[in-house]
Amino acid sequence: MQGGTPLKNIRAQITALGMYVPEKRVTNDDLALLVDTSDEWIRERSGISERRIVSEGQANSDLSVKAIENAFKGGDFRPEELDLIIVATVTPDMMFPSTACIVQDKIGARNAWSFDLSGACSGFLYAMATGAQFVQTGMYKKVLVVGTDVMSSILNFEDRSTCVLFGDGAGAILLEPTEDHDVGIIDFLLHSDGAGGKFLYMPAGGSLHPASHETIDKKMHYVHQDGRNVFRHAVKLITEVSRDILERNGYTADDVNLFIPHQANLRIIQSSLERLGISPDRVVINIDRYANTTAATIPIGLTEAHQQGRIKKGDLLLLASFGAGFTWGSVLLRWGDI
Ligand code: UT7
Repeated sequence: MQGGTPLKNIRAQITALGMYVPEKRVTNDDLALLVDTSDEWIRERSGISERRIVSEGQANSDLSVKAIENAFKGGDFRPEELDLIIVATVTPDMMFPSTACIVQDKIGARNAWSFDLSGACSGFLYAMATGAQFVQTGMYKKVLVVGTDVMSSILNFEDRSTCVLFGDGAGAILLEPTEDHDVGIIDFLLHSDGAGGKFLYMPAGGSLHPASHETIDKKMHYVHQDGRNVFRHAVKLITEVSRDILERNGYTADDVNLFIPHQANLRIIQSSLERLGISPDRVVINIDRYANTTAATIPIGLTEAHQQGRIKKGDLLLLASFGAGFTWGSVLLRWGDI
């Protein structure tokens, strides 16, 4: 849970980033043809207007590879220089091998080792903190962290309370060492509370309920959520974990140049902003276009903000997430050179 003091005075900094969302757009009106819902309800209750959904045959690793390619577009990327690839996801291509190994093969990172990390909507921050450890110890020079999910593969398009909320997408960052202590990852603060597991989960497909006719008939291979309960916890814990990381590093909300929260519901983001006292012009919001892409929301938000020129060298960025598990966390960093 503790960020800890970097060994050898090395910090991990983001030196490349990219994102990818599938081309296929699904609007609220499209979903209203499938379930009893409306564009008005979805916009008002969640802030979502549309989401992107994979085409047939397009897997999680395909999205990840495109995000990675976009991160290194025009640059001098040598995949064989990568030391480690961490893929945060709850919708891997298959149970095993890991999507990270599939991605490693697809991009030709033959000298890396690779693994998946399951942290749901907090997966990217968990993976970022994990990857940063290998950089901060001086062990590794290039760690690739991917947040990616194909939520449409586990959505019940007959359940209006969940199918309208999620979308598909991927984002990737490269972490490299720096001895410049004015930039890079300053701290992270991560939590989990397994008692919250029953409020957001996919019941079947694992060892508890292996796939069977019964699990399929009972629609156990889909996302199940107690939305109100998750909402309440999300607002409280995103606020707390953001406030805590600022306080323990001697910052206030006024010091934050850009807040990049997980995108699960516009009302969760707005409530957290109000409670934290961060002004609305200093937050990244793209839930209207992509819905909740689970592990991908934060790297997508980060990449878009960077592309839009909203991040400059020296800016203090606060990232925060909440999701299934329950899992939640925050990362504080100062932007360096890309
Ligand atoms: O990233 C992982 C974390 N996930 C989240 O953070 C999601 C957290 N939860 C939420 O975002 C919200 O709770 C939802 C968007 C899921 C639901 O919003 P809500 O304001 O909490 O609505 P509700 O669940 O209290 O439902 C209100 C009503 C219900 O009808 P009754 O019981 O009042 O008659 C629902 O059946 O809205 C109904 N409803 C819908 N109506 C039209 C639920 N889904 C829909 C729908 N269209 N899609």
